[in-house]
Amino acid sequence: MKTKLYVDSSNVISKIDDRLYSALVEHLGRSVYDGLYNPNSTKSDEDGFRTDVIEAVKQLGINLIRYPGGNFVSGYNWEDGVGPKEDRPTRLDLAWKSIETNQFGLHEFMKWTEKTGTQPNMAVNLGSRSLDAARNLVEYCNFPGGTYWSDLRIKNGAKKPFNIKTWCLGNEMDGDWQIGHKTAEEYGRLAHETAKVMRLVDPEVDLVVSGSSFREMPTFGTWEETVLEHTYDDVDYLSLHRYYGNQENNLPNYLAQSVDFDEFIEGIIAVCDAVKARKHSKKTLNLALDEWNVWYHSNEQDEQVKPWQEAPHLLEDHYNFEDALLVGSLLISLLKHSDRVKIACLAQLVNVIAPIMTENDEIWLQSIFYPFMQVSKYGRGEALKPLFESPSYDTKDFKEVPYLDSIAVYNKNDGEIVVFAENKSNETMDFSIDLKEIQVENLIEATQFSGYDIKQTNKDQKMQIVKNDKVKLNNHELEAELSPLSWNMFRVKVEQ
Ligand code: AHR
Repeated sequence: MKTKLYVDSSNVISKIDDRLYSALVEHLGRSVYDGLYNPNSTKSDEDGFRTDVIEAVKQLGINLIRYPGGNFVSGYNWEDGVGPKEDRPTRLDLAWKSIETNQFGLHEFMKWTEKTGTQPNMAVNLGSRSLDAARNLVEYCNFPGGTYWSDLRIKNGAKKPFNIKTWCLGNEMDGDWQIGHKTAEEYGRLAHETAKVMRLVDPEVDLVVSGSSFREMPTFGTWEETVLEHTYDDVDYLSLHRYYGNQENNLPNYLAQSVDFDEFIEGIIAVCDAVKARKHSKKTLNLALDEWNVWYHSNEQDEQVKPWQEAPHLLEDHYNFEDALLVGSLLISLLKHSDRVKIACLAQLVNVIAPIMTENDEIWLQSIFYPFMQVSKYGRGEALKPLFESPSYDTKDFKEVPYLDSIAVYNKNDGEIVVFAENKSNETMDFSIDLKEIQVENLIEATQFSGYDIKQTNKDQKMQIVKNDKVKLNNHELEAELSPLSWNMFRVKVEQ
């Protein structure tokens, strides 16, 4: 099978925002307790943070951490997580029917972000609470001192303000599973008023308003319209969430879900732009895809979990090779929409639907870790419009879908063109990259992730990205063999 990608460095989609490579950390299952924080682990430092997890987070190149939820935030009192640990209350976490000890809270989170070199993206509770708790939290975090909440932060050990820039106005408020679920009208009004008071405390904050929880919601689209009618001028981003699963065990259709992802993003962009037009606004609203991943392996198992435990084993999906291929393709979708998607959080980061897993004092990296790590490390610079030729296949849900998925990124600073390419077919693919417009110097590296059974997980840590030897670079054309069902990357040095 022959395929070809045309690379034209002048055909730019957008500069890629570093925050495209972000993640969600929620108080859920073993994500925070056991995952980030475990004072009893031999792997933990003086703060009780798992140092092996910190290293893996750095390796993934994560930028922003959305925290503390997720559904959890809609029942959370942030004040429970500050002050001396021995005075913090133990509470029922109604979202996940667990016990929350509050031993990890705001200050611990901020310290952890420092140690991982990440930035906070703080969600406020607009479920069980309202604008007062939100404005107090902004005052606590960002006001220099001399007021009740800012002085309390100083008393609790943080002299300098945290200066948290990015804030989410609640979580999935359209879903009736959400504590304090609201209609679009109710949420739109509340989000508007909350944005107002948060900005009065700190005019510099960036705000993310909650969009639909998923595409199949009956209110999908109309939710966004109504909420944006109230908040268009107040917010900087609209959030979207999307999870996939291969419940039908139909690999070709599963790998085609990237088409759904494209359509989902483009549909929401259309809604934002319709509101913009109606409002005669000059402002273009960008998107925060603040939850995305594969999530389905653990569903049945989660029904057996006893309620009201501390750090229960919840949402512990073990990802296989086909999941890694889908995640690779979803990352290409994010790059294709990098003109409008500025923040994207893989949900989640550790132990809960996560690329990083801990097992007692050991750590293991899931299959999805690898494509994410490569795109996050090398998908920096400008995303170029993907123009390619490929045979396609018929799918149950999406009709014709190309066997090849691919995109090039131009990193001017390093003088590199980086191509990500996925072969979704069972055959070897002859792939060529046409670099006619570009002064090519040499091939830096060509790698592939392939050869595993599609249902194989990485529990035994055998998976690895390896060199692709079947590559030739002739002047302006790179020719390579892509193994069946493979994720690939090519880095070419170009004249700066
Ligand atoms: O990431 C797991 C859950 O998925 C989050 O808590 C919620 O926002 C979404 O439904």
